[in-house]
Formats: sequence, structure tokens, C-alpha cells
Amino acid sequence: MNGEPLPHRVRVRISPRPARSYDVAIGVGGPASVAEWLYNNYDGWRLAIVAEDRTSEIASLILGSAKERGLAGAVFRFGGGEERKTRTQKKEIENEMLASGYGRDTVVIAAGGGVTCDLAGFLAATYYRGVPWVAYPTTLLAMVDAAIGGKVAVNTPHGKNLIGAYHHPEWVRCDPSHLSTLPEREIRSGLAEVAKAALLESEVRVARLRELAPSILSGERAALEEIIEAAIRTKVEVVTQDDREEDYRQVLNLGHTIGHAIESASGFELRHGEAMSIGIALETRLAVAAGFAPTALIRQVEALLEDLGVPISLPEGLDPQSVHKRLQHDKKVREGRVRFSLLESPGKPHLGPEGWAVPVEDSLVRGVLGLNRQPVE
Ligand SMILES: NC(=O)c1ccc[n+]([C@@H]2O[C@H](COP(=O)([O-])OP(=O)(O)OC[C@H]3O[C@@H](n4cnc5c(N)ncnc54)[C@H](O)[C@@H]3O)[C@@H](O)[C@H]2O)c1
Ligand SMILES: [Zn+2]
Repeated sequence: MNGEPLPHRVRVRISPRPARSYDVAIGVGGPASVAEWLYNNYDGWRLAIVAEDRTSEIASLILGSAKERGLAGAVFRFGGGEERKTRTQKKEIENEMLASGYGRDTVVIAAGGGVTCDLAGFLAATYYRGVPWVAYPTTLLAMVDAAIGGKVAVNTPHGKNLIGAYHHPEWVRCDPSHLSTLPEREIRSGLAEVAKAALLESEVRVARLRELAPSILSGERAALEEIIEAAIRTKVEVVTQDDREEDYRQVLNLGHTIGHAIESASGFELRHGEAMSIGIALETRLAVAAGFAPTALIRQVEALLEDLGVPISLPEGLDPQSVHKRLQHDKKVREGRVRFSLLESPGKPHLGPEGWAVPVEDSLVRGVLGLNRQPVE
């Protein structure tokens, strides 16, 4: 490919069904290499490339390249945005595909951010009772998180991601050159998940990520490629230890219990990663308050997040009381105590007697949210 280096590969092993294992490939030359992969694996099938407005050009590149190889297909385009990750949108694309005669010989290609990957992956999970799909993530968050792990879903008026499936893609292809058009805020949103992965991985990864931070923030491709691959390896290691949520996978919730409450309390004004980085910082304080981690961890985690330019405290105007109220509705509440996935040190998630998500006293939670001061009447 024009003298470009070959993409790096991370193998995702699905333990109960080794035949379903697949690769994640990271490197430039994405559109042509997807076309080539489809030609090698799905010649004679029909390609349904699902893309949103902002990624439809990328989808056209993939389709053009596939057509040059004699493959047939079309781009199915939607408006994009979290508010379109719905059953209605899924149905509209399905109807369009059905009307165009797409049958069980369809391969779905999701070309876009996490919204597109979730929507198209879920569509693939149910179309003709399930057809194969390829994830072509175009945001940092989708590359390191949404496209990895096989969870696909849509939002409902009752909450996000409530209707969905487990449906692993056949292949994931990440081309970091697409990140050059991504708004800086979206890059930072992805960086929070990259930080989370490093914190779950090791001290060494954390140090390396801090070292690379300036190159990452100036968009250097080699640095981006390195951190994308590292974060993917961590997520893949975790999700392949058990392919369902119950146990070890819970460690991926680091920062996400408080983070989701913050995201929702902000009325989704904060990007996912922004809310999660605040969540990671506050949950680190919680781990210290609960006696699971040394005080020094707070500084270590905050330094990492600050180097990456992601927030570590609640924005002004966001009421901690409303964050607390939402935490009480978390699905992980047991007997009034919310359960958290906490860290003892980088690379060492805390395992409590009840598993990887541990219940924490509400007074400590109120403490890290700054709610323990006497109310002023
Ligand atoms: N399935 C999972 O395991 C999982 C994990 C994490 C997140 N998610 C889901 O992912 C979604 C968030 O993902 P996201 O942050 O990628 O959101 P997104 O798909 O909305 O993309 C973010 C923004 O970037 C734009 N965009 C996408 N690619 C671009 C490009 N190359 N250049 C310029 N702009 C581009 C989009 O139009 C959008 O405005 C949420 O719905 C979340 O629930 C799923
Ligand atoms: Zn997340």
C-alpha cells in the first residue's frame, strides 16, 4: 500500500467459540484495505455501508474501492448524533435495505463514530436474524471503545443503550488518519477512555501515555496509533476474559458509575469522555476514602488526566446533588449502597468479597461530591 507500514493487528479471541475470533487492524490505508478484506472474505455478498452525514465520504471511498474489485453494494446514510441512535432510525435503514432487496447475503459495514457502530452493529444483529458486520470506527472513542467488545445497542426514551444485543463484528479496521478531521473536543472525549485503559493496564502504560501526551494533542499519527493499539489491547484482554458483563468486565466501568450520573445530570451537554474523566478522578478519591488505594493515587491519576487535557472536576453550574440523585438510580445499587469498580493502583483494580464492583457507603460518595458540608438553611 504505497510503501505505508502494514497495519498492526490485535486478535480478539472469543473463548467459547474460537471460530468466531477476529482481528482489529490499526493503521492507515483503511478504505482500500476494507474493500480488499471484503473481497477476500465476502466476494459475491452485498455490502450495506451504514454511515452518517459526516462520514458518508469515507463510506463512498470504501464503496468505490469495493466496486473496483467487483463487489456490489450501497451506502445507507442517516443524520447521525446520539438522538438518532434509535429503534426508529434502525427501522428506517432496515426498510430501505429490504426495499432494495438486501437479503441474508448482506454484510453490514459501520463507517462512523460510536453512534454509527452501535446502530449498524445492532441492525446487523437482527437483520435476517443476524448478518455479519465490519466495524470501521472514525472517532477515537469508537476506535478504542465502542467498536470493541461486541456490545451493540440503541437508545430509548427510558435510557441509553437499553435495547441491543451482543454481536461481534467479523473485523474491525481503525485508520487514525480519519482523526485529523475530528473536532478537538471529540479527541479529548476519546482520550478519557484511553486514560482509563492505561490505568487498568499498568504504571508503565500510564507513564508512556503521559510522555506521549504532547504528541497526541498535536495529532501526531505515530503517537495516536500507539495509544489506540494499547487501549484496544487492554479492552480486548478484559472482554475476552469473559464475554458477558457479569464479572471481570466490570473493571471497564472504572470512572463510569459517577461518570454516567454526571453525563446524565449535565443533560448530555458534556461529551461522554468528559463526564468519564471527571468520573475517573472522583472515583479515585472514593477509592482512597474507602481505604482501597493510597492517597498518592489521586495525584497520579489527576496528573495523567491533566496532561491529556481532560477535566477532573465538576463544571460550575452542575449541581452535585443532582449527580448524587442519579447515582441512587444506578443499576448497580444494592441495599442503598452504590457499587463501584475502583482502582488500588495502576494495573490493579480492586477485587472485593462481592466481586469487581464493590459497594461503598453513601457518606463517602457524598464526601467526594462535596455534599457533606452542613446545608445552609
Ligand atoms: N458498544 C459499546 O461498547 C460502546 C462503548 C462506548 C461508547 N459507545 C457508544 O458510542 C457513542 C459515542 O461515540 P462517539 O463519541 O464516537 O459519538 P458519535 O458517533 O456521535 O461521533 C462523535 C461526533 O464526531 C463526528 N464524527 C465522526 N467521525 C468523524 C470524523 N472522522 N471526522 C469528523 N467528525 C466525525 C460525528 O458526526 C459526531 O458529531 C455513544 O452512543 C455510546 O453509547 C458504545
Ligand atoms: Zn465509556
